[in-house]
Amino acid sequence: MNIKENFSLKAFNSFGLDQKAKWFSTFNDVNDLQSILKSWDEEIHVLGGGSNILLTKDVDGLVLKNEIQGIKVIKEESGKVLIEVGGGVIWHNFILHCLKNNLGGLENLSLIPGTVGAAPIQNIGAYGVEQKDRFVSLEYVDRGTLKTYKLTKNECDFGYRDSIFKRELKNIAIISKVIYALDHHEYKINTSYGAIQETLEHNGIQSTTIQDVSDAVISIRKSKLPDPSQIGNAGSFFKNPIITMDAFHTIKCEYPNIPSYPIDDETVKIPAGWLIEQSGLKGYRLGNVGIHEKQALVLVNYGDAKGNELLSLAHFTIDKVHEKFGIEIEPEVNIW
Ligand code: EPU
Repeated sequence: MNIKENFSLKAFNSFGLDQKAKWFSTFNDVNDLQSILKSWDEEIHVLGGGSNILLTKDVDGLVLKNEIQGIKVIKEESGKVLIEVGGGVIWHNFILHCLKNNLGGLENLSLIPGTVGAAPIQNIGAYGVEQKDRFVSLEYVDRGTLKTYKLTKNECDFGYRDSIFKRELKNIAIISKVIYALDHHEYKINTSYGAIQETLEHNGIQSTTIQDVSDAVISIRKSKLPDPSQIGNAGSFFKNPIITMDAFHTIKCEYPNIPSYPIDDETVKIPAGWLIEQSGLKGYRLGNVGIHEKQALVLVNYGDAKGNELLSLAHFTIDKVHEKFGIEIEPEVNIW
């Protein structure tokens, strides 16, 4: 075990915030993790790819970075493949592995920053697919008992950007590996999300492959979302709010073009990016921080921002949207 002291997390969070961890270590396998947990009785924080956190201060205690690697097929049967992936594998590297091996099902989630072990926590999703659609089970280490446990899809209780790991198992479970079920042929391509279909048509694609879908997703993401290696950001900063049909109809009277995704007969999801743009904040900049000019859901660090500047901008944005629409938008990123 190699524990470093007063370690800068700048390279380990996609906002590029220069906060320090009092103590920092990585782990490469479950045994490694168990022995660290056994010998450490102070505060612990677990970091995946650092692409969904906002560091507002130096972190007390030990920051542990999951570096459990490995991608292996554990079962192959009539065109279906069960694949087991280490929690520390970079999500997009896993997608590249799937494309290279003709495994379909998660290509719509190309280029999402972060790690495989973090994906189930917030049930990552994009362009009509969520990781839960291909999720089978996972293994986690319990910080208290130090034992490993398996959870099935139902037990993870996935919702929109939500799971048991944000609730009952928060600060308890450390995800060591995840199993997904993918298609080896007879792919069920999902191009239902408007922008994908338009991009494929624009590229003159007729019989669509999983590689075409991935290429389309990558080009859409690159056109809207800032690259964290160029401009610090954590993707969508807020969740898209789910509101009642009544509230929706009231807003629609004034804004007939409001985009919406029906959830059920009584509720509807509204893009927070639209609400923020309509509140006049798209492209807004305050010193070192701002709201991205191409996607208002993304807060950005233009230089040497402090986490607190981003937090103030987030509160300002929440207040402006509330003032205008009476809707309370909530952060999607974890605030440390
Ligand atoms: N919109 C605006 N103004 C904006 C941004 C969006 O009017 O500044 C409108 C768009 O015109 C469109 C609608 O809002 O009608 C939806 O926009 P978009 O397709 O860009 O998706 P989103 O709802 O803003 C969600 C996810 C993204 C994911 C995309 C694509 C959340 C919180 N975000 O964004 O996820 O990539 O859909 O599926 O659900 C992330 O989680 O970090 C992330 C980037």
